Amino acid sequence: MEKPKFWHIPVLLNELVDSIEIAWNRQNIVVDCTLGLGGHASKIIGKLNKWDIFVGFDADEDNLKNASLNIGKNIWEYIKEKNLKIYLINSNFRNLKSELNKIWIDKVSWIYYDLWVSSVHFDDENKWFSFRGEGILDMRFDRKSWLTAKDIVNSYSENDLYRIFREYWEEKKSKFIIDNILKSRIEKEIKTTKDLLEIIESSSFDPKSKLRVFQALRIEVNDEFGALKESLQDAVKLLDVGWIISVISFHSLEDRIVKKTFNEFIKTEINQITGMNMTQPILEKVHKKPLIPKQNELDSNPRSRSSKLRVLKKINNII
Ligand SMILES: C[S@@+](CC[C@H](N)C(=O)[O-])C[C@H]1O[C@@H](n2cnc3c(N)ncnc32)[C@H](O)[C@@H]1O
Repeated sequence: MEKPKFWHIPVLLNELVDSIEIAWNRQNIVVDCTLGLGGHASKIIGKLNKWDIFVGFDADEDNLKNASLNIGKNIWEYIKEKNLKIYLINSNFRNLKSELNKIWIDKVSWIYYDLWVSSVHFDDENKWFSFRGEGILDMRFDRKSWLTAKDIVNSYSENDLYRIFREYWEEKKSKFIIDNILKSRIEKEIKTTKDLLEIIESSSFDPKSKLRVFQALRIEVNDEFGALKESLQDAVKLLDVGWIISVISFHSLEDRIVKKTFNEFIKTEINQITGMNMTQPILEKVHKKPLIPKQNELDSNPRSRSSKLRVLKKINNII
């Protein structure tokens, strides 16, 4: 079987897999919203029972193809033996509800996200997410979407550039970088990662600035935070009562969105006069605090260091 060139070490693998017990007396419908290279998926599929359904989403078509190569031969044999139904969907997870409707799924038993990018996005120069090498300024997960990083640096207003550099990545040298982007683009279009890198390096001595600017552009290109908010809302609605939603995040802003969205479903409205609960909570936390990688994982995969896993159980339907 053909093997993909790149690999991604799945983070918090055991913690994620242990966040749910696969039921043996009913059909499990499991949705991986960020299939990546299929590292988590391989282990999870191997736990499913006869007739269960697994759905994997990825906005990046190459990752989706590589995931099916990475899901090893033994797992494909297991899929056949157990008559599992596997759907691999090339779509943004913001389309979760409509894509699941297309395959007649309106309730799921476990839904999980492993956010941010896969190692391939940094290691493969052709992906143009990394500032290593010289590539076109693109940064789309989904090559069918219309906005690229090149469009942003060449056409966004000063205020909009400031918004994304400050809000998404708290870049302190934003003003100098933006001034130089505005000056450069009058002379000639900023086309490549190298063009942008030269501008950043001439504006800031902080070696981390280039990472921050590239990340901020990627978040804007893919509307990562907007997609996450929308998708989480739908995911909670799709989840069956008694079942689990798990999210691994990497970035504090991303984790803040996850936490805030879940808190909306955890809180109850209290009657000011009687002090009684007027609404039931929809979700409950499975762990008081998010799970983080243990020392042995940090040692073997330093890229896991800022990851956090939040696990919640649906305890009531949304009325
Ligand atoms: C951290 S990786 C997942 C790695 C995966 N769990 C594994 O073990 O290989 C995140 C994946 O999510 C995808 N992704 C990011 N945002 C997405 C979105 N809004 N919709 C669908 N896929 C997305 C990326 O293309 C990437 O492949």
